[in-house]
Amino acid sequence: MCRPDHFEVSYAINPWMDTATPVDRDLALAQWDTLRATFERSGHAVDVIDGIAGLPDMVFAANGGLVIGHRAVSARFANRERAAEGPAYHRWFAAQGLDVVAATEVNEGEGDFAVVGSRILAGTGFRTARAAHREVADRFGRPVISLRLVDPRYYHLDTALMSLGDTIAYYPPAFTPHSAALLARLYPDAIVATDADAAVFGLNGVCDGRRVFLTDRATGLAQRLHDAGFEPVGIDLSELLKAGGSVKCCTLERHR
Ligand code: ARG
Repeated sequence: MCRPDHFEVSYAINPWMDTATPVDRDLALAQWDTLRATFERSGHAVDVIDGIAGLPDMVFAANGGLVIGHRAVSARFANRERAAEGPAYHRWFAAQGLDVVAATEVNEGEGDFAVVGSRILAGTGFRTARAAHREVADRFGRPVISLRLVDPRYYHLDTALMSLGDTIAYYPPAFTPHSAALLARLYPDAIVATDADAAVFGLNGVCDGRRVFLTDRATGLAQRLHDAGFEPVGIDLSELLKAGGSVKCCTLERHR
């Protein structure tokens, strides 16, 4: 995770960002501290990368790369505003002793790659290039399923789909009909989110196998997760939502 010490909305690269809306950084810091403490109380060790002045979106650590086992791919961002984050995350992965390579194609890390069982689901359409999917498949030796996003509000895969371990929760209208049909076929037991739960970033959550950490605004989805045997843990990240991010965006997972 990356503390939002330099968080602000000083540019707009997705429809959620409005530079005219004031951001309360102290509140963002307090909300982020609560998320971190919630992970730790649930038994998850959290490593923190230092934020860098002038990189207000660096708090969205999920975009820094993809890490599975001792291997990592560091990000290559689509927008120049975030470009310097790629090398910053790369250096951090290397300092952790990970075997890291830099992406050669545009690749926004776990923003567009979800590890679900033995597969990797991959988004494209707004940020991550289709060619990056092949690069990730080769790097990790796992099947990668390409999915095309069509709604600019759901510009990263992790805004419209969440891994629940071996199945998923997702919002079909964020995908082309072909991609939505593919997901329905692969995951017949998936949880399908409503417009309301998707619009508060309910799908931008992290599942540890039992608990699902997600925004406290996605009450319908929380109930559905509970009914499916998961334990939803609601977190208020309203300030981060002003930049188009929530729980998952703030969290880069170390997958086994
Ligand atoms: N403002 C950031 C951007 O548009 C938000 C990134 C959110 N991260 C995510 N994993 N969806 O790039």
